[in-house]
Amino acid sequence: MKLNARISAVKPSATIGITMRARELNAQGINVISLAAGEPDFDTPEHIKEAAIKALRAGQTKYTPSSGIPVLREAICAKFARDNNLTYTPAQIIVSCGAKHALYNIFQVILEPGDEVIIPSPYWVSYPEFVTLGGGTSVLVQTTEADNFRMTPAQLAAAITPRTRAVVINSPSNPTGMGYDAATLRALADVLVRHPQVAIVSDEIYEPLVYGGFTHASMAAVAPELYARTFTVNGFSKTYSMTGWRLGYVGCPDKASASAQQNLQDQSTTGTTSFAQYGAIAALTGDQACVQTMRAAFDERRAYLVAALNKITGVRCLNPDGAFYVFPNIAALGLGSDELALRLLDEANIAVIPGNAFGADAHVRISFATSLEALHEAVARFSRWVAARG
Ligand SMILES: Cc1ncc(COP(=O)(O)O)c(C=O)c1O
Repeated sequence: MKLNARISAVKPSATIGITMRARELNAQGINVISLAAGEPDFDTPEHIKEAAIKALRAGQTKYTPSSGIPVLREAICAKFARDNNLTYTPAQIIVSCGAKHALYNIFQVILEPGDEVIIPSPYWVSYPEFVTLGGGTSVLVQTTEADNFRMTPAQLAAAITPRTRAVVINSPSNPTGMGYDAATLRALADVLVRHPQVAIVSDEIYEPLVYGGFTHASMAAVAPELYARTFTVNGFSKTYSMTGWRLGYVGCPDKASASAQQNLQDQSTTGTTSFAQYGAIAALTGDQACVQTMRAAFDERRAYLVAALNKITGVRCLNPDGAFYVFPNIAALGLGSDELALRLLDEANIAVIPGNAFGADAHVRISFATSLEALHEAVARFSRWVAARG
């Protein structure tokens, strides 16, 4: 079948090679420790599952409004007010099949052919593909370890052209784990206020998973002047360990941009799974202690992993502000990230994601969404492998 140019331009997942190879090794009976996961290793909290089961039993099995059931959209508004100091009305909220779907939709409704979107690099692999699918062009801004992988205001200013339509801010970040606090967001906002054509896509999916005194901030709250052009994206996958439920949402700058996304969903996916939305209401309105329990477990693993990696010769690792990834520099090991990841898999039986996939070949991404025991064993294998190379 001849396929169109649009889909041919979309890159397959760069992490698939490692995942396939890890599966092959596991099938051969080799115990591979995977540090590749992009999802929490906890089960969804019980009260959330119960709410969805109850809804299913009560017959909530029909189509829902494409933008999400009204009670859920109200709960999302209350969440934005409670946690982010942001005021949205339900008409500005769109519930989608994951934050990924929400982000895809945003670029579909705002981009014209040739529009540029600024993406700080290292970046989550899907952003450039959303831009490509929206007909736009990605402009990657190379951040540095010295700047804690934060795009500086000067870098942002230099990247903006008359064709710039949007900038992506992902805080805390996948893959680096670094975040923008209120002050660093404000400094970026001071640049953006001078360029009214630039929309802000603020991906806050890792919001509550923050460590070491880092405080999450939302661009639209830090810079109220930018509210009218900021999309605030969040979801349930990482906060409540609900990756398989496929639920995310966006607070839109106005009703028109929300309606556009609603139309798009009307003509593509329709609303998200009916009973899953009732679980989402329980997640947002129920006791938030479950989130803090998961955060504390991640924090303990983070502290161990950063210290342990920094003891391995040739590995240098920053302390992440949030999410559940570390992004160590491995350049001193003398291998590119693709080769290092393959050799770690084959020779040390640990799976990490090459930084190349995120635009940073001197790094690998290591997820700590796995048990402390597994992390201990993985670090031991990594250390032995490095020592054996001499
Ligand atoms: C930065 C970032 N944004 C968005 C998503 C999408 O999450 P979901 O579609 O599961 O809500 C992910 C998932 O890995 C992510 O890492």
